[in-house]
Amino acid sequence: MSQKILVTYASRGGSTQGVAHTIGAELVKQGFDLDLRYILDVKDVKPYQAVILGAPIRMGRWLPEAQHFLSVHEKVLAQKQVAFFVVSMTMHEDTQANRKKVLEMIAPSLNLITPMDIGLFAGAVKPSKLKFFWRMIVKLMHVPEGDFRDYEAIRMWAEQLAGQITVVTTEDVE
Ligand SMILES: Cc1cc2nc3c(=O)[nH]c(=O)nc-3n(C[C@H](O)[C@H](O)[C@H](O)COP(=O)(O)O)c2cc1C
Repeated sequence: MSQKILVTYASRGGSTQGVAHTIGAELVKQGFDLDLRYILDVKDVKPYQAVILGAPIRMGRWLPEAQHFLSVHEKVLAQKQVAFFVVSMTMHEDTQANRKKVLEMIAPSLNLITPMDIGLFAGAVKPSKLKFFWRMIVKLMHVPEGDFRDYEAIRMWAEQLAGQITVVTTEDVE
């Protein structure tokens, strides 16, 4: 089996891509060989030993691309080490109640796959970059505006995740 791991992400505004890059960079630092791919560019997960999937919350749910990815690759992923990361504005205050809320928002995905770990991170909203409709939605939903990404927390999560990923070498298989 390949020792390569996959970090894949869905994103609308680009902030989750930034989180994915931080996770990828830390895993490389920890010695992993990895591919970092936009979710729609991933056709096959078989070559990977572990898959780390991330997406933001929009309108109270994980981006549909994440759920779709899990439905398509469910059987193969069930044989692999899988971790999720979720980016949301609910996490701009890291409390047990907010963590519970975010986990409830990704419940349909947790019904498909039980990940080894789930990173919950605050994201970023830049109203000036949103179309008028979404700007109004963000206002109506009282989504906090600004960049709340905590890169140190993201890096620390990736570092402890690295310790959980079991490296299977060809020698182990033989
Ligand atoms: C239109 C819109 C709706 C959002 N809805 C929610 C939401 O329901 N709950 C939440 O916690 N965050 C919500 N957010 C915040 C996003 O999860 C956060 O901005 C995230 O960083 C966006 O990721 P992206 O830049 O990769 O698309 C929303 C953001 C936008 C722009």
